[in-house]
Amino acid sequence: MKGVAVFLLAVVCSSRAELVNVTVYGEALCPDTSAFVTGPLNRAVMEIGTIFTLKYVPWGNAKMISKEKFECQHGPMECTMNTVEACVIHYYPKREDFFPFLVCAFKQFETLNPDVGKKCAEEANLVWEKIETCYSGDLGISLEDMFAAETAELKPPHEYVPWVTINGEHDKTAEGKDLIEVVCQAFMGSKPPACEGELDWKEGINF
Ligand SMILES: *[C@@H]1O[C@H](CO)[C@@H](O)[C@H](O)[C@H]1NC(C)=O
Repeated sequence: MKGVAVFLLAVVCSSRAELVNVTVYGEALCPDTSAFVTGPLNRAVMEIGTIFTLKYVPWGNAKMISKEKFECQHGPMECTMNTVEACVIHYYPKREDFFPFLVCAFKQFETLNPDVGKKCAEEANLVWEKIETCYSGDLGISLEDMFAAETAELKPPHEYVPWVTINGEHDKTAEGKDLIEVVCQAFMGSKPPACEGELDWKEGINF
């Protein structure tokens, strides 16, 4: 009996392949990041979310003027909203918690501001008050310093946003509609049905 139990455990463990690590370097208020997050990335999370981890790095092409002062491609509001996103990820590191917030924010990237952020936080069941304290204070700044450093460490350096790495390697194909295919190929375990082209189309995916 004991032998059978050990055998079963061994089978279960060996079938658990390592998850694929997807990292997205993006920017608030950026139309291309928005199209990617609300389109291919959202679809991948829904269809094959069980086979990859997601890390989102809110910095992109922003520049450090000093440790406390940043300059952003789409103006100061982009810096503010990158910081809001950094705070959301800090307090809610689980994808199921932070990702609905990101999708909500990126759907409204053209008018994104802290009021929209507050509504998105409420919709995603996140506590806005601590996010607000974070983005308007020292914690927000130090989180952005960290994400700026992570972006600067990219090899090769990023040339545009969104910039996507698969298991730490830049992958241009993953930055568009073929994201699911790329992640499925990188996954060594038994693949979910969506990997075999049996996409389970759901409502609300504008892709
Ligand atoms: C994904 O990242 C984790 C944590 O850094 C690491 O342990 C794991 O080996 C990575 N997986 C792959 C497939 O590279």
